[in-house]
Amino acid sequence: MTTLWSGRFDQAPDAAAFEWGSSFTFDRRLFEDDVTGSLAWARALAGAGVLTEAESAAIQSALNAILEQGRLDPAFVSGDDEDVHSFVERLLVGKLGDTGKRLHAGRSRNEQVSLDLRLYLRRRIPALQEALADIVGALTRQARAAGDALMPSYTHFRPAQPVLVAHFLLAHAAPLRRDYERLATARNEAGALTLGSGAIAGTSYAVDVEAIARDLGFDRIVPNSIDASSDRDFAATFLYGVSLAMVHLSRLAEDLIILCGDEHRFFEFSDALSTGSSMMPQKKNPDPLELVRGKTGRAIGDLMALLTTMKGIPSGYNKDLQEDKHAVFDAEDTLAGCTAVVKSVIDGLSLNRARAAAAASGLLLATDVADYLVGKGVPFRSAHEIVGALVRKLVAEQREFGSLALDEWRAASERFDADVVDRVTPAASVAAKRTPQSTAPAAVQHAVEESEAWLARAAGIAGR
Ligand code: ARG
Repeated sequence: MTTLWSGRFDQAPDAAAFEWGSSFTFDRRLFEDDVTGSLAWARALAGAGVLTEAESAAIQSALNAILEQGRLDPAFVSGDDEDVHSFVERLLVGKLGDTGKRLHAGRSRNEQVSLDLRLYLRRRIPALQEALADIVGALTRQARAAGDALMPSYTHFRPAQPVLVAHFLLAHAAPLRRDYERLATARNEAGALTLGSGAIAGTSYAVDVEAIARDLGFDRIVPNSIDASSDRDFAATFLYGVSLAMVHLSRLAEDLIILCGDEHRFFEFSDALSTGSSMMPQKKNPDPLELVRGKTGRAIGDLMALLTTMKGIPSGYNKDLQEDKHAVFDAEDTLAGCTAVVKSVIDGLSLNRARAAAAASGLLLATDVADYLVGKGVPFRSAHEIVGALVRKLVAEQREFGSLALDEWRAASERFDADVVDRVTPAASVAAKRTPQSTAPAAVQHAVEESEAWLARAAGIAGR
């Protein structure tokens, strides 16, 4: 067993406690980032005159060889090292001897681990963004295919007003687009360079931190070395972004579980993404979406875990912070898995137009009846009262607006004319909407096109 700090001690570390406290089994995921950071540090030390150009070049080529080997064979990144930083340094010294031992001058694992996690998030967040955009794409395709199909919308989970199915689908795309932007914010927050902070007080070597930052694609330097060694805000921002994305996927899952259920059947899941029951032959269960809903708790738990870890530590690096990686990796894996399955479920969704449209008719047209009266000069509050009384009568007689004869309309208010019949249909209801964010067919058509344009832009960014 090798440690980076054995010189200070008379005794070898307690084997069980050392193994328990080691992080290599999970921080090996930072291998690539650790090497990337070390390459930049090797260049910076040459710039500062701490390494000769020849030494720096030797270190860089050895690090590149280590990186290559790790990429070719993930099993290569293993050993009884304390952490990934010790692992890389052990290999480097193994290859170069004393020259390899020169690399850690002026650098601490405290800033190194923060840098690695920052590099990791900057490298990995785009894949999560793409996965979210893929769901937006699936929803947008379904929205376009739905055309002018109608369904009820709900408030308090009671039928509210008719909407276009496309409008409902895009209602789930909107939060995912915010999540996409939120992850970009998290990625940006991670883009501050910690190197130059040393263990806590800074470094005595004249390294050009601005140059290192540029080298690593960062746009700034951390403002304070003490803060830098314990700052995990960027990880918390990431976990918040992931948690909120999971909350949105969970709500999408919940909507679809209900609307595909036998009581609604507005949509149907593809068989390939449904599961059966071992006992009840008729069952077609939405397990994948239930799991998405269930796993949301994990992501929120990861955020809570990190915040709780962060709240207790005194200034400077404390080993508690090693826990950050469990939270970040678990949240990332959770979101990655959920986005993939949600996209497949949406791609496989089929719309039952007749059933959805039928449910969009009936007493949920009451607001349109009131709006009709307002159009005839009745104050809205009075119109609401008149239509409320009419609804009470229809409910008692188990009837709907469509069954009312003109004299019955007139009995409710003499402002009703024969044209009320045309106004009180689900199609007329959506067509009457006037605002850009509404379910008016022209507005929704525009929203579908806008979503397609956003997807093209997002794909352009991802392709760069
Ligand atoms: N494995 C440690 C972590 O994840 C690396 C930093 C160790 N620093 C130290 N001073 N022990 O936080």
